Amino acid sequence: MAFKGATEGTNGEKIGIVGSGLIGQSWAMLFASAGYSVHLYDIDPSLVANAMDKIKTQLLNLEKEGLLKGSLTADEQFALISGCDNLASAVKGAKHVQECVPENLELKKKVMGQIDEVADDHTVLSSSTSTLIPSTFTEHLKHRNNAIVSHPVNPPYYVPCVEIVPAPWTDKAVVTKTKALLEEIGLKPITMAREKVGFVLNRIQYAIHNEIFRLVEEGIVNTDDIDTVMKWGLGMRYAFIGPFETIHLNAEGLKSYCERYGQAMINVTEDFGPIPSYTGPLVDSLSDEMNKKIPLEELGERRRWRDDRLIALAKLKKELDEKDAKK
Ligand SMILES: NC(=O)c1ccc[n+]([C@@H]2O[C@H](COP(=O)([O-])OP(=O)(O)OC[C@H]3O[C@@H](n4cnc5c(N)ncnc54)[C@H](O)[C@@H]3O)[C@@H](O)[C@H]2O)c1
Ligand SMILES: *[C@@H]1O[C@H](CO)[C@@H](O)[C@H](O)[C@H]1NC(C)=O
Repeated sequence: MAFKGATEGTNGEKIGIVGSGLIGQSWAMLFASAGYSVHLYDIDPSLVANAMDKIKTQLLNLEKEGLLKGSLTADEQFALISGCDNLASAVKGAKHVQECVPENLELKKKVMGQIDEVADDHTVLSSSTSTLIPSTFTEHLKHRNNAIVSHPVNPPYYVPCVEIVPAPWTDKAVVTKTKALLEEIGLKPITMAREKVGFVLNRIQYAIHNEIFRLVEEGIVNTDDIDTVMKWGLGMRYAFIGPFETIHLNAEGLKSYCERYGQAMINVTEDFGPIPSYTGPLVDSLSDEMNKKIPLEELGERRRWRDDRLIALAKLKKELDEKDAKK
């Protein structure tokens, strides 16, 4: 099928992407930036064609802004990506297949099964799922030892952390291989020792969500105040140092922090309320408030603004890291 592309990867290795939506497109761009030959499949050829157009536009824009990853030009990277009109041609002979279909357990089971049918014995079968632990949709696979989750953070091209989650039957070597591959394409993978609901990022994020809904429901602060605390408080630090380093620096080391603030942390935590219901009048009024701040028809524009800010932050972090490395 002639969706322009299909040059041999400059490193000669093939990656399959199944599902050409938001996340599939990002993965395609990331793998192409490192010279992989990327094969992109979706259920309808028009969706693949549309994704190819979007990828081309994004690559050219990134190049224009001097933000393209890797050492190849946008045209060279685009030429490494090809659209497929059947799943087998995206999967056969691939080193790694990244599944990016909608978040639905039955669909994940089905699509992982279809990938498994045609996959080589050495192909890593990796899912982008945000919320499903791998044992719930990979147990039936012939190649279940090769199945794993690589959960990216949105937008993956600009936010490099990715969570690697093995199923109980995933080979250790598959975990190691996946981590090496993701590092090679410029991501910052973390590896979970075993699966756990919510993985890591969402467990932390949901702890925040629970507390911000409770604080607003109690009328202690409003949504602007919460956003200020994160953007101008916690977030300022977290862009550069994580919570463990924050703890270590905020006293004479971690142990001293726990001695000084341990009881306060316990007392405050005991004051936390129950899990919010995430339905009902509170959600309705918060929804109205947010829609007033950012009308739904402006979400696209605001996402682009967010991506620009993330790019600027990524650049700053890179520059500062390079300065550190020279010291
Ligand atoms: N969007 C995010 O913020 C985000 C972040 C991290 C992970 N994820 C995960 O990535 C996955 C994809 O999310 P998305 O936002 O790209 O969704 P999306 O809806 O943008 O794209 C999904 C694509 O899969 C295609 N598809 C549906 N059924 C298919 C099938 N049987 N075979 C092949 N393709 C099929 C759809 O046509 C669509 O193009 C989900 O599991 C999601 O949880 C999303
Ligand atoms: C924690 O709570 C106990 C019991 O209310 C109180 O005696 C103690 O002073 C509190 N400690 C801190 C650090 O808040």
